[in-house]
Amino acid sequence: MSEPICIGVLGLGNVGAGVLEVLDRNADVLTQRTGKRLVVKTVLVHDLHKKRSVSLGSATLTVNAEDILNDPDIRIVVEVMGGEQPAYDYICAALRAGKYVVTANKEVVSKHKKTFFELARKHHTDIYFEASVGGGIPIIRSLKVGYAANQVKAFYGILNGTTNYILTQISEKNQSFEVALKTAQELGFAEADPTMDVSGLDTAYKLSILAAVALKSEVQVSDISYEGIEKVTLHDIRHAREMGYAIKLLAIGQQTGRGGISLRVHPTMIPLSHPLAHVRNELNALFMVGDMVGEAMLLGRGAGSLPTGSAVVSDIVDIVFDMAYEEPKRTQRNLEPHYEGAVLVDAGTVASQFYIRLWVADAPGTLAKLAAILGEWDISISKMMQQSVKNEVAELIIVTHSVLEKKMRQALSQIETLPEVKDIASLLHVGLDEGGL
Ligand SMILES: NC(=O)c1ccc[n+]([C@@H]2O[C@H](COP(=O)([O-])OP(=O)(O)OC[C@H]3O[C@@H](n4cnc5c(N)ncnc54)[C@H](OP(=O)(O)O)[C@@H]3O)[C@@H](O)[C@H]2O)c1
Repeated sequence: MSEPICIGVLGLGNVGAGVLEVLDRNADVLTQRTGKRLVVKTVLVHDLHKKRSVSLGSATLTVNAEDILNDPDIRIVVEVMGGEQPAYDYICAALRAGKYVVTANKEVVSKHKKTFFELARKHHTDIYFEASVGGGIPIIRSLKVGYAANQVKAFYGILNGTTNYILTQISEKNQSFEVALKTAQELGFAEADPTMDVSGLDTAYKLSILAAVALKSEVQVSDISYEGIEKVTLHDIRHAREMGYAIKLLAIGQQTGRGGISLRVHPTMIPLSHPLAHVRNELNALFMVGDMVGEAMLLGRGAGSLPTGSAVVSDIVDIVFDMAYEEPKRTQRNLEPHYEGAVLVDAGTVASQFYIRLWVADAPGTLAKLAAILGEWDISISKMMQQSVKNEVAELIIVTHSVLEKKMRQALSQIETLPEVKDIASLLHVGLDEGGL
């Protein structure tokens, strides 16, 4: 048997432990596939004395990153610490040393992918990040390799297990947001501080990575319009279901046909006839439209120790195949060779149907005034329903036909000033109609 491939792992939390377990449990299969023994030599942690649930085998624990970054035997560095720093510094140091890098860290990849691609190219190495989007689902590899013959016209992703779990529980068990969040935390699907998930930021990081992979565009999260699920209520989810929709937090990427791309994250009412409407609990999915393949969907576990470990180890396998070639025959195939700044279309100029839930005075003339303002902005109504009346205030639901978002918002700011309007409780996008489907 030839020399083993030595791996250094930065971090031994959920994902780090999963990586070690996958390498250990499937050692024979991995050796058969790669022709090499894959050996974890050193693992970086914060706390040497913490009890670990995973067997370390022959690996040594360290609190000194230099033990990995300066070790010439270690050819692959796996970063599974999380956060921007010191992960960024360690990844740069590993690439500068000519080591291959695998990371599961969406934040650092989203913010620094351009620097990583440039450094990797300069030092004749590569960086892989399959686990950073969709956990165990091979979304990145599918977009890069499986659908390589296509131009991706559009994709729609449920990429955050925490928010999908919460929305599913609210819908199926009639729970409030707070109760569903607490259950998600108890089951380990949500962090103690769930802000990054619930606000849509986590999904926006993943969207910017998919923009690089599927649309070959460099985009930062600060350029993406994102909205979370904080304002989605049990009320809206029930009304949506009665009308034949499920509410999901979607990451949306579309070629607009105007030479630009549109990237957005927001809760969306999806028709129950669409497969994305049936992605339940902590599962993730990506629905894509390629110009040749048509519609396709990937579904699976978007998080968890072993699913995420599986994605990291599949990257390691890919790297070992690449290592079989000596320079200059190595492919550096994971880098984006034609990767450019994107022309991003303003979210306000994208058309969609909208669902509006508002509380209005239950008095003659109210509906006529609302309809008049919508008419002024060329917004036509697809459905209007009065739900309930309490103390002479009625709950009204309006679903519009397709309209530019900025027009919708302008009309609503005018509607808000009507004395008959007590509260505009919700505004949600309806359907996946524009730009791709
Ligand atoms: N959890 C998932 O299901 C999942 C799925 C997809 C992607 N990811 C991504 O994978 C990464 C890791 O997530 P995780 O859930 O495994 O995190 P985690 O459980 O918090 O583990 C982090 C690990 O990194 C170590 N660490 C952190 N900062 C360190 C530092 N400055 N120096 C030395 N060691 C340090 C910690 O050491 P100690 O153990 O000594 O404290 C711990 O072992 C994140 O980027 C996350 O977004 C996670």
